[in-house]
Order: sequence, then structure tokens, then C-alpha cells
Amino acid sequence: MGKFLVEGQRSLNGSVRINGAKNSALKLMVAALLGKGSFRLENVPRITDVDTMAGVLRALGVDVSFDSSAMQLDVSSIDGHTPKELVKSMRASVQVMGPLLARLGSVEVARPGGCNIGSRPLDIHLAGFEQMGATIDIVGDMYVARAPRLRGADITFRYPSVGATENIMMAATMAEGETIIRNAAREPEIVDIQAFLNGMGADIRGAGTPIIRIKGVRELGATDFSVIPDRIEAGTYLLAFLITGGSGRLENVIPEHIAPLLELVSAMGAKVVTQERTITIESPTKLKPFQVSTRPYPGFPTDLQPQMVAVATQAVGRSELEEAVFDRRFGYTQELCKLGADVTVNRSSVAIDGPTRLTGASLVAGDLRGGAALVLAALAAEGQSVIHGVAHVDRGYESMEERLESLGAKITRIEE
Ligand code: EPZ
Repeated sequence: MGKFLVEGQRSLNGSVRINGAKNSALKLMVAALLGKGSFRLENVPRITDVDTMAGVLRALGVDVSFDSSAMQLDVSSIDGHTPKELVKSMRASVQVMGPLLARLGSVEVARPGGCNIGSRPLDIHLAGFEQMGATIDIVGDMYVARAPRLRGADITFRYPSVGATENIMMAATMAEGETIIRNAAREPEIVDIQAFLNGMGADIRGAGTPIIRIKGVRELGATDFSVIPDRIEAGTYLLAFLITGGSGRLENVIPEHIAPLLELVSAMGAKVVTQERTITIESPTKLKPFQVSTRPYPGFPTDLQPQMVAVATQAVGRSELEEAVFDRRFGYTQELCKLGADVTVNRSSVAIDGPTRLTGASLVAGDLRGGAALVLAALAAEGQSVIHGVAHVDRGYESMEERLESLGAKITRIEE
């Protein structure tokens, strides 16, 4: 695990180019398992979760290589053994269930343990597979799913789960007949995977709306594709400008994908201007407090909750935030308090009184977005902070320290 050394209280300015979306790229890599042939994926972020997923695909017999800007996937025969330790290390690997059930008729995945942001069960995924004719057994710490032939079903989700929507979409691409997913997740990454699968020859409509229809086809081929920009990385850098009182520009973004954040920071006093693929922000001298609840898309994204709380420490007054998506996503707040933040967690809500003068401290990142929040707070703190456990941050942010340095931050990585 490496650590970051941060010298705070330097305002960030300048322009940063946003990478491809982690939470799309990981799923497109898995979706390729449904097809055959050579895929070229552009705008794939070089983050450790992508490397981990590449390991899962290689273990399944896929040839994965990278050149300067793209990932090359060559899919021919698939061997259905997902490496257990990799599956346990990354939640996104449960997405292989849909493709392997569809292609091989059986799949084993490690039952996901809880993680630092909640219990994260798979009941919605499994109920959908069972409705499509799969049988699911628990063998030790594994789920074993079998389905000689998946059949289309009319499935209503109890909750618009992103992963379950993607898993069922993928399983349904070659099922017998039509599958309907009702109360589907509407995230931009769902729209991306629909476009990718249809490029492979699938017949899917409705992604981005609550009802998705998938007509089963006989087989899928290959396609080239460019991953959408990462809306959560974009929001994280936008908030880095804001917490340091700077002004800057995000390149290669889709502003509407973070509309709730842009509305919120504008209400806090920031001046935000959007164009086709860019966002500029100017920080106000005084940040107003806010109240917000996280929601499935198109609501305020849970993946920007920790970063928002860090910014709230600099707002003048009391801000309140409700975490309504995950059941335990405030672990990072005790680290913020080490910097001097005035943060109180009460069940699924957090209250933050500001502005507080933050002073550098030694911090430990426990998860990806909580770690990003600690970096943001350290950028605003007086003096030096040390952030341990930056491997969590590296899962979702490519070269974060180099990009922040290019914006005027003083942050260096020390390998431990
Ligand atoms: C995806 O996770 C993202 N990860 C998460 O981003 C993101 O926070 C989440 O969607 C919500 O937007 C990837 O795409 C790799 P869910 P996922 O299924 O699919 C409960 C990040 O920081 N639930 O929509 O796991 C679940 O426990 C990560 O990049 C069930 O109860 O999210 C959670 O409380 C963190 N049963 C809520 O639904 C199920 O079967 C949302 O989960 C499935 C989910």
C-alpha cells in the first residue's frame, strides 16, 4: 500500500481531462464474454480495477492486451472458472454471472463478503436468474448457478440495482424469447452497455428508462467501442477545485451525467458553465451549506457522497446529507474528524458544521470514494497530511497525484 503526502491550502486551477468511466469499462469487458472475435475498447481508464478484471478475463481464456490508448480483447473459447480470490477482491466480478450462464449454462462465483460501504447482497441478481430458469445453489462460500437454457421472463426489480440490471441484460441477450426488466437502473453506464451489446448483435431497447426489453438472439459477435467519460471522476475533480477555492475546467465530460452535482454546487455559490463536453467552475469566496439525499440515477450519486461531505466542512453553516443507497458508507468521516472536521453521523444521515479550519493529520483510506474524500480534505487543510492506503484510491482514479499536481496541488506518492 502506498501513501500520499499532501501540503494543503493551495488553490487548484487549470484544466483536467477526465478518463473513461470505471463503472462502464468493467462491465463492457465482461459483456465481451458473450461474443466472439476481436474487440477494441477506447477510453478505458488505466486503474487497478481494470487490471483486476483483465485478470478475471484472462483466467477465463480471453486474450487481453493494452496499447497506448485502448484495450484489445480477443474472445474465442471460454473456460468457466473465475479465480475465486479475484472475485472476492472486486464486487464488479459478479457481473460475469450473466455472460457465463448465457454462454456456458453454469457459473460459480464467490459469495460477496460485505465491504467498507455496506453488506451488498446479490438477491436481486439471483432472483432474476431464477425467473429465467436458472437454479442457484450455495456451496460453501460459493454461489453455483446452472441453466441449460435461459428463457426470457418479465422481471420486476424490488430496487433499481445497477449490477443486477447489467447482469440480467447480459443473461437475456441469448435467452429464448423476450426478457423485460421493470424498475431497471437508469445510470448512463446502463445506456453504454446497451449500445455495446447491440453493437455485438444483441436486440435491447429502453436503457436509461425504467423498462428495458431484451429479445434473445442466437449468437453475438464483436464490436469496437469507446467508453463514456467517468461522471464520478469528473465530480471528484470539480469538488477538488471547489474545496480549495480554485477555478478550473473539466475536459471530455458529459455535463448532464452530473446534473444534480452541478445544481448543488451552483446553489452553494459556485459559478458553473457547461458546454458540449466541458465544464468550468469558479469558486465563490463563501460556500453556502446544502441538504441532499443520495438516490439512484438521475438523483444525486452515492459515489460523490463522501467527497460532498469533505466540501461541506468549508461551507458556512450546517449541511446535511442522507445516504439512501448504501447501508454503511460513512467510515471515512472519522478520518475527516482527525483533520478537525465537525461531522456527526446519525444512522443514515450526516450533519457537517462549517467552516472548520482543517489541519494536516495522518489518515487512512478505507475505500475508494472515502479515500478520494480524504484527499480533497487534505488539499484544504493547513500543513501536511499523510494518507495511507491509497491502493483504494488507485482502484478508481488513474494517476490522481500527478493530475492534482498539474492543477497546482502539492501531493507526492510514497510507496510503502
Ligand atoms: C454499482 O454498484 C457501482 N459499482 C457502485 O460504485 C455504485 O455506488 C452503485 O452501482 C450505485 O450507483 C460498479 O458499477 C462496479 P447496486 P452495484 O446493485 O451494482 C443493494 C464506486 O465507488 N442491493 O445498484 O453493486 C446494495 O446493497 C462503486 O465506483 C441489494 O440489496 O450497486 C446497495 O445498497 C461503489 N441486492 C444498493 O442496492 C442486490 O441484489 C445499490 O446497489 C443488489 C444490490
